Amino acid sequence: MAEKQRMLSGMRPTGRLHLGHQRVIEYWSTLCDTYDSFYFTADWHAITTQFDDTGHLRDNKREIVIDWLSSGLDPEKCHIFHQSDIKEHAELHLLFSMITPLSWLERVPTYKGQLAAFAEKGKDIATYGFLGYPLLMAADILMYRPVGVPVGQDQLPHVEFCRELVRRFHHLYDVNIFPEPAPIFSQIAILPGTDNRKMSKSYNNYINLSDPPEVIKQKVWGMVTDPARIRKTDPGHPEVCAVYAYQGFYNKEKQAEICANCTKGTIGCGECKKMLTDKINAFLDPIREKRAYYENNPQILDEIIDDGNRAARKVACETMEMVREAMKI
Ligand code: TRP
Ligand code: SF4
Repeated sequence: MAEKQRMLSGMRPTGRLHLGHQRVIEYWSTLCDTYDSFYFTADWHAITTQFDDTGHLRDNKREIVIDWLSSGLDPEKCHIFHQSDIKEHAELHLLFSMITPLSWLERVPTYKGQLAAFAEKGKDIATYGFLGYPLLMAADILMYRPVGVPVGQDQLPHVEFCRELVRRFHHLYDVNIFPEPAPIFSQIAILPGTDNRKMSKSYNNYINLSDPPEVIKQKVWGMVTDPARIRKTDPGHPEVCAVYAYQGFYNKEKQAEICANCTKGTIGCGECKKMLTDKINAFLDPIREKRAYYENNPQILDEIIDDGNRAARKVACETMEMVREAMKI
């Protein structure tokens, strides 16, 4: 059988994962059958915005891997590693920095947007490292010479940047080392936040995988419903209700019935929320069990990451040999 083509993706370890992330991880796990898959924690990237507060970084890296594993990523089927364990990423980033026009970095759409968003919160992230974010990301990606990168829409300019960089590198050194990685889009439906906006830490509208049952109850209780419903008998509009949207994800078989009863005014929001709370808790139970397993067996987690690092380093060393040869270093 021909070897599977490589694919890679990463996440910044900036805190616990929420239910929206869980859907992405579940999608990642489906890709493992098709591709030789590498997934890493982008811990150096996390420093770009949290350079003044790195105290949680080590914990966050472990926690995010635990969240991945409990969300269904099978360590037997993919390689899981930490960016900072593979020093070659730093070398490739440095070499790429020599050939990247400054203007390319300055015009990446996320650059100015993020600067402004952080400035609004009173934080200046206009560092050398932050400007180089897309370049480090390109190094992460190209190191594994993958055919594709599963990313969200927001990361698309970064993948395009990476493709441009490939062309420039090949042109400058007259080589052909890197396939131009294609973005891989998932078809998964996006889970909204508890207030119906995009689920995000900054909106405080998320449900974490590690939230205990009591917290789930509180968060579901606080979810946005149809504001027109005061009494149970008021006819509802499920399409504007976050609880209803969630029923579609976690209580699919009852969603149509809930829709009918809500519209007729024969189900109360309390009852509806209670049902959802139970469903989300039931969904999270096996995830909680796996989380407890890895928390209680730290050496197993270490082994998974050691194995992942070894596989990543092997490919990284091959790539760097080709790059050094191309540049005559
Ligand atoms: N920028 C990505 C994010 O914030 C994380 C990331 C870093 C990444 N390097 C990557 C994703 C390489 C895919 C490939 O989500
Ligand atoms: Fe939303 Fe359910 Fe209340 Fe209808 S009954 S408004 S679907 S919470």
